Amino acid sequence: MTNRLRDLTKREEERFVREHPRSAELYERAKVSLLGGVPMNWMKKWAGAFPVFVKRAKGAHFTDVDGREYVDLCLGDTGAMTGHSPEVVAEAVAQRVREGITLMLPTEDALWVGEELKRRFGLAYWQFVLTATDANRFAIRIAREITQRTKILVYHYCYHGTVDETFVSLKDGAAGPRRGNIGPPVNPAETTRVVEFNDLNALEDALKQHDVAVLLAEPAMTNAGIILPENGYWKAARELTRRYGTLLVADETHTICAGPGGCTREWKLEPDFVVFGKAIGSGIPGAAYGCTEEVAQRISARIQLEDCDVGGIGGTLAGNALSMAAMRATLEHVLTEAAYEKMMPLAVRFGDGVAGEIKKRGLPWNVQRLGCRAEYTFCEKPPRNGGESAAAADFELERFLHLYTLNRGVLLTPFHNMALMCPATTEADIDLHTKIFAEALDELAGRNANPKGAHSAL
Ligand SMILES: Cc1ncc(COP(=O)(O)O)c(C=O)c1O
Repeated sequence: MTNRLRDLTKREEERFVREHPRSAELYERAKVSLLGGVPMNWMKKWAGAFPVFVKRAKGAHFTDVDGREYVDLCLGDTGAMTGHSPEVVAEAVAQRVREGITLMLPTEDALWVGEELKRRFGLAYWQFVLTATDANRFAIRIAREITQRTKILVYHYCYHGTVDETFVSLKDGAAGPRRGNIGPPVNPAETTRVVEFNDLNALEDALKQHDVAVLLAEPAMTNAGIILPENGYWKAARELTRRYGTLLVADETHTICAGPGGCTREWKLEPDFVVFGKAIGSGIPGAAYGCTEEVAQRISARIQLEDCDVGGIGGTLAGNALSMAAMRATLEHVLTEAAYEKMMPLAVRFGDGVAGEIKKRGLPWNVQRLGCRAEYTFCEKPPRNGGESAAAADFELERFLHLYTLNRGVLLTPFHNMALMCPATTEADIDLHTKIFAEALDELAGRNANPKGAHSAL
């Protein structure tokens, strides 16, 4: 860390504490009843001495308990990509809450949602759970069952929720537990192979022992910056998975930013499963996984009625009436084609604004975009894979930029430099971020330094 970055970070940290007295108070109180003072451990990772406690959120904005207002470009890390509490979803949910929340019986909304997902993604049959993690877990179980293979395959630096098998990474070409992996049930090298994205040779090597049940993949990686597939990658990768009898899960939980049918529809992918969580119910817990006709037939043939409740796929609240009502209202009225037409240009505006400021200062950084999501990384060329992206990461710099924008009323995702658009985001919201980002770069470079000086200061 340079001295300038250290000094600026200290100044911003002090400002944050000074300007958030009520959040500070709540955090102190939380420390004696919540482990680590937060409802979930990753909330500690926000830049600043404690997380901002939220009072209310609507559309693209929220207000904290100190009465400060923010533009929300994090949007619950996609959980609120619909904008916070869309009116139409709030109404549908309120009605459903009064008429029965969970019954272990279907409601008609489930059919509507299944039909709509089939129309969007082209996969034949759908199931509902509460989280994208569970959707991935159950798709993996089905894949293992019908292929009678044990291994799964993922990309280096992937994230698919808290699926045990996926907390694996490559070290000197070998798979092992990912850094920070808490109490892994077994060494993930026993369950999982891991390869770099965009490397077809590595993919084929991993598949050719004919023991991989499933490749669990985001069509574009989104959890290590945005990493796009190279031209022809998915066509060739799909051919390889078919050649070696491996099924493909397209985890569209984040890549739903690419369009109403995710990358599956935009890029004409032909996965065996699609997973879609988080935003599907505007943040009301719910997720879905779909499969092809062939997968459906193969798994149906193996499930006995008597055992179907204890087969490792399920959840008491899965497919509950409330989730289904939220999903229906979201898909019917919020995440519509028209909404995407509005959101996409905003992500372009964000990308252009940030890229312009980077260029003006001659910084070796880049900006990538996927649909209504954009992100900058600290390297000259967009990373091709997780390893390249990790090598370009700069934790301190990232935290400084997050805190700097937060102190000036803009929230970015805590885990990388991602900005997501929702239907309620405005051009003014985006321009505010660009302005603050430019100021941060100027400060890092020393206000009066010539623009090239930014290199040395960073
Ligand atoms: C691509 C992807 N899949 C699945 C998940 C898991 O979602 P959840 O935490 O809602 O289970 C995430 C979470 O960030 C994700 O990024």
